Formats: sequence, structure tokens, C-alpha cells
Amino acid sequence: MQDSKKNPFELENGCTLWEIANQEPVVNKMFNDAMVSSSCLFNDYIVRYGDNIFKGIESLVDVGGGKGVMAEVIAKKFPHVRCTVLDLPHVVCDNPNDGIVKFVSGDMFNYVPPANAVLLKWILHDWSNEDCIRILRRCKDAIPSREARGKVIVLEAVVGLTSAMISKEPQLLFDMLMLMVTEGEERDENDWKYLFTKAGFSSYKIICTFGFSSIIEVYP
Ligand SMILES: C[S@@+](CC[C@H](N)C(=O)[O-])C[C@H]1O[C@@H](n2cnc3c(N)ncnc32)[C@H](O)[C@@H]1O
Repeated sequence: MQDSKKNPFELENGCTLWEIANQEPVVNKMFNDAMVSSSCLFNDYIVRYGDNIFKGIESLVDVGGGKGVMAEVIAKKFPHVRCTVLDLPHVVCDNPNDGIVKFVSGDMFNYVPPANAVLLKWILHDWSNEDCIRILRRCKDAIPSREARGKVIVLEAVVGLTSAMISKEPQLLFDMLMLMVTEGEERDENDWKYLFTKAGFSSYKIICTFGFSSIIEVYP
């Protein structure tokens, strides 16, 4: 990759955040633990709003689901949903596969295992538009039609859409963070609409907003 396309983190460290996490067990643990903490923040909301979201869903893949905290909460609260986590090998390698969540190692750019629904929590904000469209297309390949209740559930900030004005500040701070360490950014509703349309989805619905994140259901 040309230097002009590298983010400041890569220019400083000579590799991406995901590559460092793969090479350095301490960084890998620190990052995964931080993601576990962030998931705990959202668990209450998923449980509170989940009745409508997970109604009629028999299977779900949490793409880039890390240590599986969110998937486990969903599987416990909504036992009719079989949950699978897809993540990179160094993230899922030490996860026991004997619990209510199944772990699969793989690359979301290549393949997403089939399921009624795909969850993308804090994934797309790490990637450029081009990469997001590739990921979303793999997700669309994995789900059935809308009539068969196929959908992608995106948990991300919708910049400008907040439950309280005070939440706009963390949205913009996260935008700066994404700019520094990833290829991505925080997106407003128009940005999201562009990505969903380009990836071949027919419509979407922002079903709830809390703090600086929202839940967006995206339909094939
Ligand atoms: C910002 S974290 C979000 C983790 C989790 N969804 C959460 O919110 O707690 C991004 C996740 O994407 C995973 N990831 C990065 N590249 C990936 C790829 N090519 N295929 C699958 N997972 C990937 C990372 O290992 C990490 O667990």
C-alpha cells in the first residue's frame, strides 16, 4: 500500500492494528478486553429492544464478534437464536467451542457463514467505503430474502442522530480515533444509505438510538 493511503497508526508502527494484535499477545488481549467492556455497555439495550429484533430469527452470525460477549447475551436471552461468532484466528483460537456460542475463525472479506441474520457491531467504522461494501456484500450472500426474515443488524453511530445533544461529542471523538488508527470513519445517515445501496440492499430502518450508537436493520 502507498504511504499516502496509510493511516497515522500504520505510518508510525509499520503495520495495521489487526496485524499488531496478531503478532503481540499483550496488544491482542488488551484490545479484546476493551471490546468486551464496550459490549457490556450495549447488552442492556440489546436485551431491552431485542424482542422485535430477534423475533423469528433462528440463527445469527456476529461478524467480527471478538470474544463473543454480545453473542452470548443474545443466545441466553433469546434461546431460539443459534449464535455463531466469526473472527480472525488469533482472536477466537483460545475460545472453547463447548458453550452456547459457536466460534468460527475466518476472514469476513472472503466468507460469512449462512444465517438468518448477521450482526455487525463496531465493524464498519474501521473500514473505508470500498471495504465496507465488500463486507456488506459477503453478509448479504449469507442471509436469506427479506420475506424469509433475512437482515443485517448494524450497531454503529449515526452521526448527528443522538438521543441527547451531549452524545455528539463522543461521535466526533470516535471519528478522530477511526481516522488515526483505521481506514474508517464515523458516518451520518446519508453515508450509511450510500453503503447499503451500493452493497445491494433494498432498504434499512434505524430502530433505536442510545448514547452515540444506533441499531440499524438492513434488508436484502
Ligand atoms: C472494533 S472490534 C469489534 C469487536 C466486537 N464486534 C465488539 O463490538 O465488541 C473489530 C473486530 O473485527 C475483527 N476483524 C478485523 N478484521 C477482520 C476480518 N478480516 N475478518 C473477521 N474479523 C475481523 C477484529 O479481530 C475485532 O474483533
